[in-house]
Amino acid sequence: MNICVIGAGYVGLTTGAVLADFGHHVICVEVEPNKLAILRQGRTPIHEPGLDDLVRQTTRSGHLAFTDELAEGVAVSEVVFIAVGTPSRADGSADLSAVWQVTDQIAQTLSHYTVIVVKSTVPVGITDAISDRIATGLRGREQEIPREDVVTDGGVESIFDVVSCPEFLREGKALMDLVHPHRIVVGSTSDRAEKLLRKLFAPIDAPLLVTDPRSAEMIKYASNAFLAAKISFINEIANLCEHVEADVSAVAQGMGLDDRIGPKFLQAGVGFGGSCFPKDTRALLRTAEQLGYDFAILRAVIEVNERQRLRVIEKLEELLGSQSLRGRRIALLGLAFKPETDDIREAPSLAVARCLLRRGAEVVGYDPQAATRFAEVVPGVKIATEIREALEGADALVLLTECKEFAELDLAEVRGWMRTPVIVDGRNVFDPLHALDAGFHYRGFGRPVVMEEA
Ligand code: UGA
Repeated sequence: MNICVIGAGYVGLTTGAVLADFGHHVICVEVEPNKLAILRQGRTPIHEPGLDDLVRQTTRSGHLAFTDELAEGVAVSEVVFIAVGTPSRADGSADLSAVWQVTDQIAQTLSHYTVIVVKSTVPVGITDAISDRIATGLRGREQEIPREDVVTDGGVESIFDVVSCPEFLREGKALMDLVHPHRIVVGSTSDRAEKLLRKLFAPIDAPLLVTDPRSAEMIKYASNAFLAAKISFINEIANLCEHVEADVSAVAQGMGLDDRIGPKFLQAGVGFGGSCFPKDTRALLRTAEQLGYDFAILRAVIEVNERQRLRVIEKLEELLGSQSLRGRRIALLGLAFKPETDDIREAPSLAVARCLLRRGAEVVGYDPQAATRFAEVVPGVKIATEIREALEGADALVLLTECKEFAELDLAEVRGWMRTPVIVDGRNVFDPLHALDAGFHYRGFGRPVVMEEA
């Protein structure tokens, strides 16, 4: 098939590359000139394991191409994916300006039967609204459309269908999640569109659920809100564990053995970040507010997460003394919102670094992928190019992502580099007893404090 993907972010680029790898001809539309230039050189503007190779390979084989001209892609395609960003507005709602912009351009360009697939995360009802807007935009151009492309469904004539097909991929595992997803959700009321998408997704071995578009849109928000709730829930349990000297890792393990609960997303720590959970939970809460519905659990999920990040500061103050963060050198290990990505959007590191800077601390950060991006956003933080450089002379090591290279650190050696032996482990990566043996004062999240015997 000829396919057009609009937007070459995480979702668009990985979707485009995977479909190209399946043997389709994919044209990816990207309007940001720097990104486009990088893509045209066969490279990728984001760090995603395996994606560079796949883009290079599919570009070389002629299955994947890039353009900044939406019309060029839409004119030749049977399926058009909308994969543009829907960031948060100041009030928490989703900013749909990019979605409307491409919708209007699609309406101006459509010339044959096309299935428009909404991959961007959009509030409930937007897929239907996109359909209405394209129908309005097409008015007056009907005579330009070949008669054989006009589909009659339930007595209504149309040359396009708009389908909601939410994306469930995780950054850092995007290719794997696209090829082996838990499920494919198709929100469509059109048999013709459903058939086409079944054909397109045939190489993927996963259950395909067909619903109405509104339910499909809600599945995406409800899934992300539920996973975020799981994280905030275990973080609340962790905070309570600290009061009763229980160990949250053991609690999570015990809970997870119940397959109604499951072991995943029960990793306590500094909370969730990224481009999805914070944005989508806020947008769903905003939708509820606009409808006059008090979504109490979701409100708490967000509040708990915001509070959780700042518990790093409380733990540092406890170990270093509340007055003494000024002038202290604090090393932050892990600046991305999770390992294996250079994405720092809403990363816990941002809130922690800003708070430390406000308190007069000297903050030095290290991350295997995200350091350059972080330095652009929080210029007050010194960036180290090696772990040792970050830790040399530091008064505290604060671990914010569970990168493998941090877990493998020899703490006795690290102790020798640092000025003060303090670790705040925001992901419970280190063994508290090892930390103690190496001479550290250690605080994890939801773990009993191991003290040196008097
Ligand atoms: C998330 C979802 O997992 C995907 O299914 C979804 O498609 C995606 O959002 C999206 O909406 O596009 P992602 O943001 O890439 O994917 O990252 P996750 O692996 O889910 O992690 C999100 C955050 O939660 C990270 O900051 C991570 O450190 C944190 N987390 C995760 C915890 O604090 N504890 C856990 O147990 C799990």
